[in-house]
Order: sequence, then structure tokens, then C-alpha cells
Amino acid sequence: MHGATSFLARPLERDARFYIAGHRGLVGSAIWRALESQGFTNLVGRTSSELDLKNREAVFEFFSTQKPKYVILAAAKVGGILANSSFPVDFLSDNLRIQVNVLDAALAHGVERLLFLGSSCIYPKYADQPIREDSLLTGHLEPTNDAYAIAKIAGIMQVQAIRRQYGLPWISAMPTNLYGPGDNFSPTGSHVLPALIRRYDEAVSSGASQIVNWGSGTPRREFLHVDDMASACLHLLENYDGPEQVNVGTGTDVTIKELADIVAQAVGYEGQTVWDSSKPDGTPRKLLDVSNLSNAGWTASISLEDGIQSTVSWYRSHLADIRS
Ligand SMILES: NC(=O)c1ccc[n+]([C@@H]2O[C@H](COP(=O)([O-])OP(=O)(O)OC[C@H]3O[C@@H](n4cnc5c(N)ncnc54)[C@H](OP(=O)(O)O)[C@@H]3O)[C@@H](O)[C@H]2O)c1
Repeated sequence: MHGATSFLARPLERDARFYIAGHRGLVGSAIWRALESQGFTNLVGRTSSELDLKNREAVFEFFSTQKPKYVILAAAKVGGILANSSFPVDFLSDNLRIQVNVLDAALAHGVERLLFLGSSCIYPKYADQPIREDSLLTGHLEPTNDAYAIAKIAGIMQVQAIRRQYGLPWISAMPTNLYGPGDNFSPTGSHVLPALIRRYDEAVSSGASQIVNWGSGTPRREFLHVDDMASACLHLLENYDGPEQVNVGTGTDVTIKELADIVAQAVGYEGQTVWDSSKPDGTPRKLLDVSNLSNAGWTASISLEDGIQSTVSWYRSHLADIRS
């Protein structure tokens, strides 16, 4: 492993109160399902309208009354390239406030184990591929989501500082691109995979014979099913205790064109796909080095084809209530 690390193999108590911040989101809802299926009986969640995590006083009040023993911080303002580059202030300010409030309140109220979720966009744009954890802060960020990335880097630092100053076994995990049931399929706010699923599915419904996608289709990306991600989070909480954030991914990537082909196959689209190279591509390749995670004893198990097929089924059966 890179950096100082130790392994816990210390199971979490199944009846202890467990707060999942962001439990209705893509990641939080998968974590909730995983915890339930693993026998956790005392889960707590609050929607953003019930508890706005930007409101420090409300967050402290929540921790003082609920007294969770364990916390997973999966609440954040999240979006794709368009949202990130249009609203950098919100992505910086909201995320800093959410995480500072939750981490401060968790510390003040004696939370024993905590997992902070970041994202692979924390790494330098031109980091060596696959991206190792120790490439953090070794180069410039991708400018389209640098504000979001800086907030997440601050969160990793806060967890590391809490470990140093208070000796608590809190940890951070950095997932690659995630997808699955509960994803954001909105045309403006979504990530590449849910956006493709929606676009291709709508083309099938409308009988369109051509789809135009942004960019050249050549960038390479890695995708992890969110149920795998949830399983990895729980595994890390029970088996990993180190200051360094842990990458969470599959260890393999595909081009965006290959991804679009899998989506087209999954929805049954038989038309043409055109790539608009005048639109930005973003980082040419993003693949996480997941050797630390596999050394900790976990590997992904859901294939991209199977994961996309089941996500398409979920999307089709939730068309009425997906996020607009
Ligand atoms: N999706 C990905 O591909 C991906 C990849 C890597 C890392 N991650 C990380 O995983 C975490 C969760 O992402 P996600 O994809 O699950 O996002 P998501 O689906 O948009 O869910 C975000 C959650 O955060 C909650 N939230 C946002 N602002 C809040 C506020 N002010 N107060 C209380 N709750 C608030 C939302 O609550 P309500 O629903 O109640 O409004 C929602 O449940 C983030 O840290 C993200 O960086 C995601």
C-alpha cells in the first residue's frame, strides 16, 4: 500500500445508530439498502428539506438529539460538467459548508466511525494513469470542476486532521463515476451515463433515427455500479483505518463511444450516433488505481453491461418520479 495504513477487521455493531447523510441520493440510497441487507437496524436519514446541512445550528441540534455512533457523509451538491462550470460558487460554498458542519458536529458529539465521500475529480487533470491516491495535490485540477474538487480536498484534509488531532479512525473514499438506480437523469444536471440512458431511451420512444452526443467520444472513463460502491464503503469502514483516501472503482475503463454502444444496446436503439467534436471532452482519461482497495480485500462484482441493463429497467419503471 502507498502511505501508512492499517487494517481493522472490526465489525460495526448492527444495532448502533447509523446516520447516512444524503440517504435519498444515488450513493446514500444504495448505502441505505446495503446496510439494511447486512442487518443494520438503527438507520437514520433526513432529507435536505427536513435538515439543511448548510445550517450549522440545525446540524448540531440533529447530532445532539440523534447521537449517531456511525456516519457516512454522502450528502453533497453534485452535478455534471455543465452544472459545475455554470455554478462554481454553489459547488464550492455549499459543499464546504455541508461537510464542515457535519464533520464538526460528528466530532463534537462523539461519532466513533465516519466515512467521508469525495470524488475522483480531486486528482490532477494530468495525473499518471491509473491514478494513485498519492497523486493528490501534485498538479493542476480539471478547470471545469475545480471548485467542487477543492471543496472535496478540504474534506479529506479535515478527516486527516481529525485523525491526527483526536486519534479517531475516520476515513475517506474516492469513488470513480457511479451509476445505478436513483441516479439523476435530468438533461442539464446529470453525469454522462444517466444522460446517455435518457437520450437513447427517448430516441427509442420518439423513433428518432439520429442522436448527437457532445465531444469526440474518445475520452476513457471508468464506471462503478452504485451497489458495488455501497458494498465497498461498508467494507472499508469495517476493514480499513488509514489517513490516505481510498480509491473506489473497478480498475477498468471504456471510451465514451463504447459506453454509448452499450447503452444503445440496452435500450434497443438502432439509429445512428453522431459525435459533435466542437464540444469539450474534458479530461482525456480517468481511471483509478484500485490496488489499495483490492489490498483491503474488496473488488467490484457487477459488470458494466449488466449494471447498465438493470439501470435502464429501473429508469423505465420510474419515469414518472425521476428527478426533473
Ligand atoms: N454520482 C457519482 O458519480 C459520484 C461519483 C463520485 C463521488 N460521488 C460522491 O458521492 C456523494 C453523493 O453523491 P450522489 O451521486 O449520491 O449525489 P445525489 O444523488 O445528488 O445526492 C446528494 C444527496 O445530498 C443531499 N443534499 C444535498 N444538499 C444538501 C443539503 N444542503 N442538506 C442536506 N442534504 C443535502 C441530497 O438530499 P435531498 O435528496 O434530500 O435533497 C441528496 O440526498 C458526493 O459526495 C459525491 O461527490 C458521486
